[in-house]
Amino acid sequence: MRAAVLVPAAGLGLRLGGGLPKALRELGEVPMLVHALRAVLAAPSVGAAVVAAPPDGVADVRALLARELGADAPVTVVAGGATRQESVSRALDGLAAVDADCPVVLVHDAARPFVPVEVVEAVVAAVEAGAGAVVPALPVVDTVKEVAADGGAELVVRTVDRAALRAVQTPQGFRRAVLAAAHAAAAPGGDTTDDAGMVERMGEPVTVVPGSEEAFKVTRPFDLLLAEALLNRRRA
Ligand code: CTP
Ligand code: MG
Repeated sequence: MRAAVLVPAAGLGLRLGGGLPKALRELGEVPMLVHALRAVLAAPSVGAAVVAAPPDGVADVRALLARELGADAPVTVVAGGATRQESVSRALDGLAAVDADCPVVLVHDAARPFVPVEVVEAVVAAVEAGAGAVVPALPVVDTVKEVAADGGAELVVRTVDRAALRAVQTPQGFRRAVLAAAHAAAAPGGDTTDDAGMVERMGEPVTVVPGSEEAFKVTRPFDLLLAEALLNRRRA
């Protein structure tokens, strides 16, 4: 196996609302997590997945995935944690139990259900070509300003040079030892929402490859509209 993927799926989805953990919210009657797993497992390089499920929903998620992907799908489910960082850490431990030597490990948000195979393959290829950590990213389209509080109002401090900015997506890819070292070095109970950021803090380089608009993250209610529209177009 060339690569395994860790899928943090234990978040509450507070910004989306709706009362169900976000990964279990349905898009076209299929939970978002199932879409995300199908998307990453469709990449020829990816041979296994470890899902970090909501801690009180592990058995339910196992049953769901056996039903949707088949009992012999190469997917393991572990209990996630209170932060994304902890969920990824637990999934990494879970991977050690099922595969000791797969050299490339990806981390992919369950909340990015439609990442194209080409993005997954580009990330894996960049790690295999020698990078320790790889992020897919897109140029920033809006003008971005730094602001500061000024009394009750907010004032612009400066306009950031957009040409040098990138919006980062997942899957992020790592040489396995690099991801393990980053998680070992991070403060336990920390809340880093980006694994590559932990590698940066170790002073290690992070390589950028082109992302895709279709790898967007479902975060707020408006994103559900976009996800449904994309799904309908793909199914048409
Ligand atoms: N995640 C996780 N464990 C947590 C928090 C987040 O596995 N304790 C996962 C989410 O399930 C999601 C991914 O990390 O797939 C990206 O996080 P985000 O979009 O912030 O999802 P939520 O944390 O669920 O949403 P919110 O921040 O709005 O509550
Ligand atoms: Mg969150």
